[in-house]
Amino acid sequence: MSKIKVAVNGALGRMGQQVIDAVIADTALELTCAADSKADRDHLILPKLSKKVPLHTNLTSLIEMYHPQVVVDFTVPEAAMGAARLAIKNGANLVMGTTGLSEADLKEIDRLAQAHKKGVVVAANFAIGAVIMIHLARMASRYFDNAEIIELHHDRKLDAPSGTALATARAMVSAHGKPFVSPVTEKETLKGTRGGQAEGISIHSVRLPGLVASQEVIFGALGQTLSIRHDTINRESFMPGVILAIKEVIKRHGLVYGLDVLLNLGD
Ligand SMILES: NC(=O)c1ccc[n+]([C@@H]2O[C@H](COP(=O)([O-])OP(=O)(O)OC[C@H]3O[C@@H](n4cnc5c(N)ncnc54)[C@H](O)[C@@H]3O)[C@@H](O)[C@H]2O)c1
Repeated sequence: MSKIKVAVNGALGRMGQQVIDAVIADTALELTCAADSKADRDHLILPKLSKKVPLHTNLTSLIEMYHPQVVVDFTVPEAAMGAARLAIKNGANLVMGTTGLSEADLKEIDRLAQAHKKGVVVAANFAIGAVIMIHLARMASRYFDNAEIIELHHDRKLDAPSGTALATARAMVSAHGKPFVSPVTEKETLKGTRGGQAEGISIHSVRLPGLVASQEVIFGALGQTLSIRHDTINRESFMPGVILAIKEVIKRHGLVYGLDVLLNLGD
């Protein structure tokens, strides 16, 4: 079987470099070319690969020349939509990891992909464990009225709470069918100690050097608690999800939003 030709956009970034290593390591995939606005040479330096992989600032010329079947994008929100339009209109499927796309962006991507009969996978979290954590939290939410979320991240994270914590809370409330019960604290002597409120779920954000990304969902009921925890140790955690998306996206038309769809987790 012929290999799936892959292009990486944002190739010199933290995620881009990790994707390049993962693509090279997979015998079913071929890294054909790479783009990054910071590119200052015409090929990637890859000790693990004997051939030279073209690198350019201009994704358009790369797609026209090397015809990748899948473009993987880990860039910035301002660049991601341009790359998405370009890839789909030029006959490539798309795996999008860049976060911060709007609802309108997603609708446009879906329309374009349908019109051009191409597949697109957009996922805000490619770590399979994190996706399963949300799935399990959703299941447990049917049976518990009380729950809180503690998310722990490195000290350079700009936002709080994390997007994953908010997505988890939304999925939990939707499965629970109503807001969770949050016990009333009569006297909060230090403001904010009970965390932020998301429909009865208190979310607590820890920020410390030394952490990468973790999240624990704790359910409570009479005489018992249930904890579901996921820890991201490093960016390798995202790669099985990205590789799965590359292999699946070529079989689909239109937008798949979220890795859970590809994992067939059901309800
Ligand atoms: N979906 C997930 O599971 C997941 C996981 C981690 C990070 N992310 C997201 O991936 C994105 C990238 O994260 P990162 O940590 O690799 O960031 P980074 O800053 O290390 O890398 C981004 C790269 O994109 C390049 N770039 C910027 N504009 C460009 C353009 N117009 N064309 C081509 N390249 C361009 C930059 O030069 C840089 O090399 C962010 O949006 C981040 O939130 C998603």
